[in-house]
Amino acid sequence: MRYKAVIFDLDGVICFTDKYHYQAWKEMADGIGVYFDEVINNRLRGVSRMASLDIILERSEKSYKEKKKEKLAAQKNEIYKKLLEQMSPADLSDEVKNTLDELRKRGYKLAIGSSSKNTKMILKQLGLDGYFDAISDGTNITHSKPDPEVFLKAAQFLGMDPEACLVVEDALAGIDAAVAGGFDSAGVGEAATHEKVTYPMETFGALSLKV
Ligand code: BG6
Ligand code: MG
Repeated sequence: MRYKAVIFDLDGVICFTDKYHYQAWKEMADGIGVYFDEVINNRLRGVSRMASLDIILERSEKSYKEKKKEKLAAQKNEIYKKLLEQMSPADLSDEVKNTLDELRKRGYKLAIGSSSKNTKMILKQLGLDGYFDAISDGTNITHSKPDPEVFLKAAQFLGMDPEACLVVEDALAGIDAAVAGGFDSAGVGEAATHEKVTYPMETFGALSLKV
């Protein structure tokens, strides 16, 4: 086996929370009269909550103090969490679940490497509570992707070196993070276009052919 473990990004790889992030940021931005649309939302993929807010506030004429920014981010997160309550195991596609089960059956350790501080709630909603061998997320890092910290911690939690792990990502910043950490990577969506991605994939299911 070329790899011993697979580290999955969450949002955009295991599940699709984009629309909830969008709705929640939109409500927050409307509240302060700042223009926000789906094109700007695309720039928030893989980016931490506070860095996302900074991107949204580029459109504002006002400058916001740190305290106010924290309030706005917290407000967005409350709206977002309410929306996440709608998620259920039905939101986990057969393609993703079957691929995960297949990799597990073949003996790979499976981990999550996500910038999200809501990782545990999302996994619970999807019925994946306790499924992964390790979880590294926004609650255990100080630097978000493209910094490799979240993946290095995931490898460390698994007790493995980066060379033994394959990172699966949908965001360009996520592939940057994988490369910076010394990981091979598999990319879906925009991440498949990254010039340094090890395995560009058209579908998530193609993963079982890459490891
Ligand atoms: C990433 C998403 O997984 O998590 C980003 O792609 C998001 O869009 C980031 O901003 C942080 O998420 P959260 O849930 O901690 O606000
Ligand atoms: Mg992602």
